Amino acid sequence: MKTYVIAAIPGDGIGPEVIGAGVAVLQSLARHSNRFSLAVTDFDYGSDHYRRHGVMMPADGLDRLRGFDALYFGAVGAPDIPDDVTLWGLRLAICQGFDQYANVRPTRILAGLRSPLRDCSPDDLDWVIVRENSEGEYAGQGGRSHRGHPEEIATEVAIFTRAGVARIMRFAFALAQSRPRKRLTVVTKSNAQRHGMVLWDEIAAETATQFPDVAWDKMLVDAMTVRMVHDPASLDTVVATNLHADILSDLAAALAGSIGIAPTANLNPERRFPSMFEPIHGSAFDIMGKGIANPVGAFWTAAQMLDHLGETEAAARLMAAVELVTASGIRTRDLGGEATTKQVTEAVIGAIEQG
Ligand code: NAI
Ligand code: MG
Repeated sequence: MKTYVIAAIPGDGIGPEVIGAGVAVLQSLARHSNRFSLAVTDFDYGSDHYRRHGVMMPADGLDRLRGFDALYFGAVGAPDIPDDVTLWGLRLAICQGFDQYANVRPTRILAGLRSPLRDCSPDDLDWVIVRENSEGEYAGQGGRSHRGHPEEIATEVAIFTRAGVARIMRFAFALAQSRPRKRLTVVTKSNAQRHGMVLWDEIAAETATQFPDVAWDKMLVDAMTVRMVHDPASLDTVVATNLHADILSDLAAALAGSIGIAPTANLNPERRFPSMFEPIHGSAFDIMGKGIANPVGAFWTAAQMLDHLGETEAAARLMAAVELVTASGIRTRDLGGEATTKQVTEAVIGAIEQG
């Protein structure tokens, strides 16, 4: 029997509520498996740590996380601390420090749920968005000078390197190739952004020659939003830059029913560092502490983590349990139901135990 060591970083707001629910569900899967157990260590990194110590995590935070098989992350963000401090101090510090360059965001309409799009059936919306997660618009390059003066200047430089673009294109083409429809849409904005995005397009075309069985096309990001709404069935795997995919994946989650169900894997595909798994939503100040956060995004995220660890059977079992529950009508408010986080969690654990 294998024991996986998992670092849980619940973070802020509803993060601890959904990660607590996710760990309970994971432990129930482990109890029912004769293949693996889980040793989960909690890390108190986040805004409380910042208030006490002036940093989101200790200086040796990454070293403490390095030895884990996977990181299970909630969210960061607090009303009294600037968002760029919380995000760069923890989530981006981990993603960049561990070179988690491939961010994978599956979206589909879970059993019993409905898309806000009229006439969109579950067969019409089954996407995976691959987000470049290490450079682009969120590379962190830029600065500010002449603060407070009329001539104040701020730059935010988008970085596209051949190595960075080539590795995400290879990853996306390979993922598209592994899915039944073998179809990839490359999102771009090379009409207006004529340097970085033109390089992006060129490398997409070069990479495509190595994947002759993948049908691929190219979309400008603004037109992509229209296609996601009007012709969702024409899409399967999507690759986009850090900023573009950030925005498109929130839209994708909403089209599948709620931001509360959507998962993310921040992968270091070469496994030189641990990968990190998190729901795509943030800390949701407006509902924190109320016990009504949707834990499904954290559960789907846990399934992605199990897949990454090679526990595909447990991952499938978890998703089957989640869909049994969504289909039964036990849903949180964001999905039109009345259930609490705890009720949904207990129902999923019940489904795992019966399954
Ligand atoms: P958000 O995702 O926290 O919330 C957006 C809306 O969705 C809110 O109305 C919220 O109540 C709802 N929502 C989100 N997750 C939900 C869930 N599980 N169940 C039910 N409803 C849910 O995004 P927002 O409001 O833009 O950001 C809040 C804070 O979170 C900010 O500080 C932001 O920087 C941070 N953030 C952090 C992220 C991360 O750690 N990966 C990602 C996105 C935002
Ligand atoms: Mg986002």
